[in-house]
Amino acid sequence: MLRVAVCVSGGGTNLQAIIDALRSGTIENAQIVRVISNNKNAYALERAKAAGIEGVCVSPKEYATRALFNEALLACLKEAAPDLIVLAGFMVAVPSCVIEAFRDKIINIHPALIPSFCGKGYYGLHVHEKVLQRGAKVTGATVHFVDEDLDHGPILLQKAVEVREGDTPEVLQRRVMEEAEWILLPRAISLIAQDRVTIDDNRITHIKES
Ligand code: GRF
Repeated sequence: MLRVAVCVSGGGTNLQAIIDALRSGTIENAQIVRVISNNKNAYALERAKAAGIEGVCVSPKEYATRALFNEALLACLKEAAPDLIVLAGFMVAVPSCVIEAFRDKIINIHPALIPSFCGKGYYGLHVHEKVLQRGAKVTGATVHFVDEDLDHGPILLQKAVEVREGDTPEVLQRRVMEEAEWILLPRAISLIAQDRVTIDDNRITHIKES
């Protein structure tokens, strides 16, 4: 049984997609053992509570230094003893101590097709604003493993989404969530729970046939 810790900051729609996929059996052989938020007001914590999942807030505001927050986040994760950490709308830069402790065991959902529209400043609605400003006709979402560089680790899954005439950033964000994010993240967890994912020496992922 794959032990999954989910890190959140906001509405938790990606967390909800995972919860629903576990309930429906779309994801087998996995369980969410802890939801961790940097934001005590995150609705994602309400979603965890409603699903009977332990929710914990580890907020940078509670610590005198960033280093102390980083240590507290690592301790909170280690206490949950996850096999996989899922960043689902997590707006905190993952500290290197966490990446080292959970090397190649952290995945993130990015609301664009990496390497496009990613990196510093590309998060949440800003991503879709940039897509529209550039006039891109296709966007999408990416699930990737997390390493020390922002939005840089091995790509696991991607799904394209059409940009339509008259789209606003909000409309486009919702379409990317519905048509890509909420599909890809549960699928990624399911593949990892089935032990079907490997990363080769060139940092390319491979998915074994079921
Ligand atoms: C979404 O845009 C997601 O792509 C990004 O964080 C935002 C909020 O996600 N990673 P959620 O509703 O909190 O899951």
